Amino acid sequence: MQTIKKAVIPVAGLGTRFLPASKAIPKEMMTIVDRPTIQYIVEEVVASGIEEVVLITSEGKSAIENHFDYDFQLDTVLKEKNKFQLREELTNISNLIDIVSVRQKEPLGLGHAIWMARNVVGDEPFLVLLGDDLVMSDVPCCKQMIDLYNQVGESIVAVQRVPLDQTYQYGIVEGEAIDIERAHKVSRMVEKPAPGTSTSDMAIIGRYLLMPEIFDVLGRTTPGHGGEIQLTDALQALANKREMYAYEFDGVRYDAGDKLGYLKAVVDFALQHRTLGKPFRDHLRSVC
Ligand code: G1P
Repeated sequence: MQTIKKAVIPVAGLGTRFLPASKAIPKEMMTIVDRPTIQYIVEEVVASGIEEVVLITSEGKSAIENHFDYDFQLDTVLKEKNKFQLREELTNISNLIDIVSVRQKEPLGLGHAIWMARNVVGDEPFLVLLGDDLVMSDVPCCKQMIDLYNQVGESIVAVQRVPLDQTYQYGIVEGEAIDIERAHKVSRMVEKPAPGTSTSDMAIIGRYLLMPEIFDVLGRTTPGHGGEIQLTDALQALANKREMYAYEFDGVRYDAGDKLGYLKAVVDFALQHRTLGKPFRDHLRSVC
């Protein structure tokens, strides 16, 4: 079985749900307590043993690349001012992991964004993490998926149960439970089913572990929901040919691309913070 070494993170989206905040700043650079959301995603990847990140970017997203780059000028200033701790923190971010960027020149959909990574990923299974989806868990969500992959050796989508009246916001998976805890064998997937048409409450969240065959399938996938090339449609086509699994990960998922989801993430991550957690909890008690 091939090891999972690469993770694709599409960050080309416009972030319309977060306007006006995301007009001049990529939504992935919005701060959750003391780090941009994209850093949490990259840290999850690193903690899961991944060696290389492939960012799928678009115009106006260079702040993301800069965040993980080494800034010689800033480093020199911090050195002169004897700000050693800060310097070390910034150096650690730039040394986190190798990052390669690929431009998605047109917003043709999530499926198209992932297809853009085909030459960098090559012929090996890989992870996909969506920048909006933050997961708080003891074991990183991607690590949980890699552990399942080591047992089943096929593609996996992370899922969570959602109320049936919210299924229209997600890719929805139908499947049957298997002998492995939290795992299901996928029989059918639908991208954002019309309200009232879904009987399954298993929603795809932004974590996928995919076999490289997905690239051929994506290359043939025609526009679907919203006129975009949908990853879920390609996954359904792949699931028709070989096994695919859904995994109810252990943890809490936040939709950080949505204003309320973002606020929940800020509060929950702040409460868990090493130094800020206690004073923040005291503050919340005083205002609630
Ligand atoms: C994407 C996927 C969808 C998935 C969702 C999770 O949709 O297409 O299948 O359920 O992410 O966040 P988006 O929210 O980007 O429209």
